[in-house]
Amino acid sequence: MDQLKDIIRNIPDFPKKGIVFKDITTLLADAKSFHRMVDLLAHRYVGEKIDQIVGIEARGFILGSALAYKLGTGITLVRKPGKLPYKTRSISYELEYGTDTLEIHEDAFKKGDKVIIADDLLATGGTMAAVVDLVEQFGAEIHECAFMAELEFLEGRSKLPEGKVYSLLKF
Ligand code: PRP
Ligand code: HPA
Repeated sequence: MDQLKDIIRNIPDFPKKGIVFKDITTLLADAKSFHRMVDLLAHRYVGEKIDQIVGIEARGFILGSALAYKLGTGITLVRKPGKLPYKTRSISYELEYGTDTLEIHEDAFKKGDKVIIADDLLATGGTMAAVVDLVEQFGAEIHECAFMAELEFLEGRSKLPEGKVYSLLKF
């Protein structure tokens, strides 16, 4: 696991001064690391009855589609406003300054569907908390929120359903 952590690159002062950004593109671009990351995460869910993977724009689509392929499910997209072509349900959530909105198609799930929500990285947890809320509005059941990496010092998991958060790499 340390090898996977080490390949993630630190970018100081991105996107703002004082933030050390974890750049996962280096892990994605390395064939062995990418395969290992997907295999380790998918292995966790093999044998579970999962109806759908939910991927969060944009970097959540990468892990989300790999997991869906491995687990033999489809992937449902959660997108930034104005990108989805059919009727949508949306949710707005607080950022450090201002708010953000995410959308999903209004026919995304049936009541009782069991889903895994995938994203690349858990930071403050605001994004995933909003998606959990949106998915639960359909009466779908969240099996787990799955991340490649987690910034533990930001305590994002405290905003998410207890016992339903898994991250492969912890910083
Ligand atoms: C990043 C990341 C997560 C979110 C984590 O996405 O991919 O979705 O922020 O932050 P949080 O836990 O504090 O909410 P970003 O909005 O930068 O979008 P992108 O994937 O399109 O680059
Ligand atoms: N890396 C990638 N995505 C992020 C980060 C980070 O450090 N913080 C919030 N989203």
